[in-house]
Amino acid sequence: MAGDIDREGVEKAYGRWAPVYDLVFGKVFDAGRQSTIAEADKIGGRILDVGVGTGLSLSDYSRSTKLCGVDISEPMLRRAQQRVRALGLTNVEALAVMDAKNLAFPDSFFDAVVAQYVITAVPDPEATLDDFIRVLKPGGELILVNHIGAESGPRRVFELAFAPLARRLGWRPEFPWARLTDWAAKHGGVSLAERRPMPPMGHFSLIRFRKS
Ligand SMILES: C[S@@+](CC[C@H](N)C(=O)[O-])C[C@H]1O[C@@H](n2cnc3c(N)ncnc32)[C@H](O)[C@@H]1O
Repeated sequence: MAGDIDREGVEKAYGRWAPVYDLVFGKVFDAGRQSTIAEADKIGGRILDVGVGTGLSLSDYSRSTKLCGVDISEPMLRRAQQRVRALGLTNVEALAVMDAKNLAFPDSFFDAVVAQYVITAVPDPEATLDDFIRVLKPGGELILVNHIGAESGPRRVFELAFAPLARRLGWRPEFPWARLTDWAAKHGGVSLAERRPMPPMGHFSLIRFRKS
C-alpha cells in the first residue's frame, strides 16, 4: 500500500527515537508491559521479546525465565545491551538485531513470544505473526499489547487523519482489530485466549493467542 510502513522507514524512525524513547514512552506504556510480563511469567521457560527496543521490559521478567530479545533497530538494541550489563540480567541469553518477520530461531523453540507495542509498527504484520507462531512451542502463547484502532466515531476519524504522520514516526494508529482475527482464522492452529482493554484510556489491548 502506498505510504505504508517499510523496513527502512521503521529503522530510521526508531534510530531517531532511541535517545529519547525511555523518557517519552517509558511510563505511559508501562502498565501494558507489566501485564504482558505477568502473563509470560505464568508460562515461564524460554521467552522471546520481539521489538525489545531499549529493553525497558527486561528487568521485570522473573529471573527464572530465559530471555531472548530482538529488534530491527541497532540504536534501540544498543540501549538494551547497556541496560542488561548495568543491571546484571544474567537470564538474558541473547539480544540480536533481527527482523521480526524472519526470526533466526528453530521451529517450536519458545514457551512464549511477547511483542509489546510492535505489531502495528512492522511492515508486514500477518507474515510477522506467522513467524511468531512458528517459533512457539505447541501450547505456547503469543502475548501482544498494542494500540487497536477504533471501529467508528471521532477516534477513528482522528486516527485516519493522523495515520500519514504516524507512519513517519513508526506506527499505524488505525490498525483494526479485524486484522488480527482475520489473520488467526486464516493461519489456523491458533486460538484467541484473551483480549483485555489496557491504559492509556482503554485504547490499547492485551491480546493472548494460544498455539494448539
Ligand atoms: C514502540 S517500540 C516498542 C519497544 C518496546 N517493546 C517497549 O515496550 O517499549 C517498537 C519497537 O519495534 C521495533 N520494530 C519495528 N519493526 C520491527 C521489525 N520488523 N522487526 C523487529 N523489530 C521491529 C522497533 O525498532 C522498536 O524498537
